[in-house]
Parts: sequence; structure tokens; C-alpha cells
Amino acid sequence: MKAVIVEEPEKISVVEREIPEITANQVLLKVKAAGICGSDVGIYHGKNAFATYPRVVGHEFVGEVVKVGANVKNAIVGDHIAVDPVVSCGHCYACKIGHHNVCQSVNVMGVHRDGGYQEYVAVDQDQLNQISKDIPWEIAATIEPYSIGAQVAHRGRLTSEDTVLICGAGPIGLIILQVAKMKGAKVAILDIVESRLEKAKQMGADLVVNGKTTDIVDAMERFTNGEGFNLIYEATGNVKILQTCIQKLPSQAGRIVVLGFSTVEFPIRQVDIMSKELEIIGTRLNNYRFPEVIHWFKEGKVQPKEIVTNTFHFTDADKAFKYNDENLDKVLKIILTF
Ligand SMILES: NC(=O)c1ccc[n+]([C@@H]2O[C@H](COP(=O)([O-])OP(=O)(O)OC[C@H]3O[C@@H](n4cnc5c(N)ncnc54)[C@H](O)[C@@H]3O)[C@@H](O)[C@H]2O)c1
Ligand SMILES: [Zn+2]
Ligand SMILES: [Zn+2]
Repeated sequence: MKAVIVEEPEKISVVEREIPEITANQVLLKVKAAGICGSDVGIYHGKNAFATYPRVVGHEFVGEVVKVGANVKNAIVGDHIAVDPVVSCGHCYACKIGHHNVCQSVNVMGVHRDGGYQEYVAVDQDQLNQISKDIPWEIAATIEPYSIGAQVAHRGRLTSEDTVLICGAGPIGLIILQVAKMKGAKVAILDIVESRLEKAKQMGADLVVNGKTTDIVDAMERFTNGEGFNLIYEATGNVKILQTCIQKLPSQAGRIVVLGFSTVEFPIRQVDIMSKELEIIGTRLNNYRFPEVIHWFKEGKVQPKEIVTNTFHFTDADKAFKYNDENLDKVLKIILTF
């Protein structure tokens, strides 16, 4: 079979590999579609602190079961599956209190172990989520990024009462926008790429702010009548934006949910957090949110078609990554097909 491998930063190639053996607790999946995520691009460019090389990347993937291990109870040959890429130990502190997504030895397919950019992949039964055979594969491949949207809604305790700011209108920011509008919140979104803000407008954003031409603090004053945002998502990965989010943009008792994982340090003042009783909330991956997202897809509550902008055959992954890098104004989510 063929596999796409990042051998070392900036070196991606298609190689021949043996079809993986499965254990009694695994199924063999024939991969049908896989999304390209910013973190896959980060691994390719050597900018992901969690990744090791060489690596078959891809954590947003779906496929069909072609072989089933003897102990597997939740799948049969022919099932369509969305794979939750998060693997945890089950007995550390985080696992015990129900945060397996931040397990002390969390292991993510496509990051810490080989992922979905290969024709066949062995998957543990705990990671299998059944999906309808009616969902097109390239749409199903967005279930994983939507699981981030579900996770951040839980982490931020998002409700219809909230006035929300989303910083960043990339695929993740736009998915959060869809989730926040589905929940009935009032939403502003910030970016510096006009085409992405146009897309946000079409998706129902109540206010779009281009940070290049409009001061976000002025925009906040007008949009919230000076109260500030109740809930802020930092989904640009830029620490200067996070700093502004903490110092200038939240309401009293506001929550700030941090998605980016920059390692750059920046100053914060205790008083800004203390005086408003701010909550600064981390969020990572997803905590068994696939069933919720699959339900949203089934009920048509979110619009995954709006996020998928391009498809490439997986053997052209190098071209797809290059296209992704060079067309920020046109691309949201590229799906690799098999
Ligand atoms: N915590 C998690 O589990 C998790 C999961 C997925 C993604 N992420 C992170 O979330 C962030 C968003 O992911 P994405 O795939 O949408 O990334 P992306 O890079 O496609 O989107 C980021 C957006 O932020 C905008 N931006 C950058 N600098 C800006 C600035 N100074 N002012 C305004 N806008 C600015 C960019 O134009 C872009 O549209 C990334 O930092 C990613 O690493 C976190
Ligand atoms: Zn992703
Ligand atoms: Zn654990």
C-alpha cells in the first residue's frame, strides 16, 4: 500500500509500506478521506512541538472497515467509521477525572503515532465512531475539526446568552462560529484576511472585524455597549491577540478560551484577571465529542460543506500542502481523497 510520510521537516514523500497487522482489539480501516489541518502543516514545517519523525501524518480521517479483530464488539466489515485520533492511558489523574484528552501520556494519531494519510490503518476499537453511509467521505472527514468546535463550546460553557468574540476566521474559527450561531449566541469574529471575513458574514456572524483596518477595542465598545465580550476564543495562535483579549476585551466575569499553542512568552497583569474574575481556559483536542458532532451532521445543525474548499488525491499531498501554504485567501479545508 501507499503511505504519505513526513520523513523530516520539509520532506514529504509517498512510500510503499506493508498493510498493517491488527491486534484482537483493532480493526483494519481502508482510508477514504483525510483532512489537512494546520497542525499537519506545522509537522511538515517542523513547527509542531508535539510531533516526532518520521511520521505518517493526518488525524482527520474516515474510512471503511475491511477486517475486524476477534475481540472487537462495535464494528463489522463494511461499516463507515470516523476515527477519534485521541488515545489515552485510562489511569493517570487527567484520565480519572474525565479529561482523557489531556492524558499525561496522550497519544494522537498522525502526531505521536502514524495517522491517516495511508491506504490502510489499524485502529483501536475505542476510537471507532459509526457514521451514516449517506455522508460523503470528504464531508465526514470534517467531523474531527468539528469535534474541536464541540469541545470549545463545552470548555467555554457557551450559551445563547453570550456575546462572543472569535479571534481568527480560519477553519477552526469558522467552525466555532457555526457552533456559536447554532447555540444562539451573538458573535463577532476578527481576522486580517478579507475573504475569510466574507465567509464569516455568509455564515451568520453578527459582526466581522478586519484587524488591519479596524481597532478591535473600538469595535468591542460599539458591539457590546462597552460591556466587553462574555466569551472570547483565541484561535489565531498569536500571543499579542491573546494579550489584548485578556487586557482589553472581556466583560466582568468573562471567559477566555485559548486554542493556540505558541511558545512565545508575553506579559500579563494580575489585576486584569483578578478585577474581573476572568477565567482563562485551556482547551486541547476533544473529549469524546464525536457522537455529539455526528448528531449535528445528521440533523443539519452545522454546515461542513462551507468549510471544505478543495480536494486532492492523497498521492499529491506535497502539492496539496504547497497549495494550502500559498492560497490563504482561497483555502479553508483541503481534503485528501483515496
Ligand atoms: N487546542 C486545540 O485543540 C486546537 C485544535 C485545532 C487548532 N488549534 C489552533 O487553533 C488555531 C486556529 O486553527 P486554524 O486551523 O483555523 O488555523 P489558521 O492558521 O487557518 O487560522 C488562523 C487565522 O487567524 C488569522 N490571524 C492570524 N494572525 C492574526 C492577527 N494578528 N489578527 C487577526 N487575525 C489573525 C489568520 O489570518 C487565519 O485566518 C491555530 O492556532 C491552531 O493551532 C487548536
Ligand atoms: Zn486538526
Ligand atoms: Zn491518562
